[in-house]
Amino acid sequence: MNTQVTNYLREKRPQHLQTLCDWLKMPSVSADDAFRPACVQAANFLAEHFKKIGIENVKLLPTTGHEIVYGDWLHAPGKPTILLYGHYDVQPADPIDLWETPAFEPNIRNGNIHARGSCDDKGQVMMIVNAVEAWLATQKNLPVNIKFFIEGDEESGPQGSEAVHTYAKDLGCDAILICDTSWITPDVPTIYYGLRGLVYYELTVRGAARDLHSGQFGNLVYNPVNVLCELIAKVRGADGKILIPGFYDDVLWPTDAQQKELASVPLDPAAHAKELGVPQLYPPQPGWSHRSMNSAYPTFDVCGMFGGYTGKGAKTVLGNEARAKMSFRIVPNQMPDQLEKIVRKFIGDNLPKGVTWSIDVLNTAEAFYADPNGPFLQQAKEVLAEVTGKPAVLAREGASIPIVTAFQAALKKPVVICGMGLPDDSIHSPYEKFAVAQYEQGGEFVAALLERYGAK
Ligand code: BES
Ligand code: MN
Ligand code: MN
Repeated sequence: MNTQVTNYLREKRPQHLQTLCDWLKMPSVSADDAFRPACVQAANFLAEHFKKIGIENVKLLPTTGHEIVYGDWLHAPGKPTILLYGHYDVQPADPIDLWETPAFEPNIRNGNIHARGSCDDKGQVMMIVNAVEAWLATQKNLPVNIKFFIEGDEESGPQGSEAVHTYAKDLGCDAILICDTSWITPDVPTIYYGLRGLVYYELTVRGAARDLHSGQFGNLVYNPVNVLCELIAKVRGADGKILIPGFYDDVLWPTDAQQKELASVPLDPAAHAKELGVPQLYPPQPGWSHRSMNSAYPTFDVCGMFGGYTGKGAKTVLGNEARAKMSFRIVPNQMPDQLEKIVRKFIGDNLPKGVTWSIDVLNTAEAFYADPNGPFLQQAKEVLAEVTGKPAVLAREGASIPIVTAFQAALKKPVVICGMGLPDDSIHSPYEKFAVAQYEQGGEFVAALLERYGAK
């Protein structure tokens, strides 16, 4: 790569770390309106930083949620235009008591930046920004045209995806680059050509008009907590198969060749179990590997459940309401709307007549799948291997980035997902961190990738 760009990134390491830490201090939690001012502050911080480093047309694009930070630099005629995506919103810091140092007071220890958003995704956004800065500062030029589209609702809702459609005519590009993922192991830099989607429901089961004495009324009325547990137990068999009729009807299963490709990406079950602190991993379905189960097979999970008495000691009560937050990770070609119909029918068919119920759809995302042989992906794999000195792989990821399918639908261009997180960065958890070395190397990787994209 251009040595002036590399040298600049190396010289500026202390400043780049400081800028990230300043940004991480802003608690831009999109899920909770109490943090709206901090979200605005974080968006403005990025916009001001864009202006400082020479990005043009910097503006905050209104959405139905938090504003999108947009900026571009379009002075490379004849070169491709790369849309650079990331998100400045973060997950809530809860449970806050478990943080060793406060979530929004970034702390650097043992080579890691500890803070909410350090890896997901402010640190990875800032890596891209540093790469662009290095080109503009040393060359007064970029090897490609760029458009930044940094959203503030990724962690909580569909506003960013809606905005892609709203602003589609201004987002024309040749490829979309996203750094918002992690490597499969610290030795295996990973580019993703697939992500699972998600449907997330909150189910409420209601019984009597009030809480009841469990002795006086037990066996007489349905207990919503029991009923909810019985229903949930029917959703998934002990082997992990989802038993809702029609659930798998639309699934586009991996071909034999694709299964081989998935299985070729290593996953050491014993090492994984040890790192996660579990006695052993869930066994894969016949014909599936741990890796493919985790990235290309649907899931059902209860993410939270409450109802009845949950305080200290024993209280003999039939609570009058029970709720479950339930998610299905979905795969190509399962569609959220169709699944909602199937799930509603299953609930209606399986709950006893003695209770009433309702469901709220809290979030949805379609699964993403791209051609792993596309030139933008293949070049990213080469550059990632060159910069890190490690063999990079192409894989599918079990988590979701909802906006990706909006990019595919509205812009019809390849999406390259190549983050620099490590598997133990504990995103969404109270131990979130981002390795300083990954942050620094990430800047060099993106700088080199832009150069490669401009070279053809
Ligand atoms: N950056 C993550 C997705 C991710 C996590 C990719 C781990 C690779 C490894 C993203 O911010 C995220 O958390 N997505 C949510 C989306 C959901 C709220 C619709 C997810 O997957 O739960
Ligand atoms: Mn993210
Ligand atoms: Mn996230």
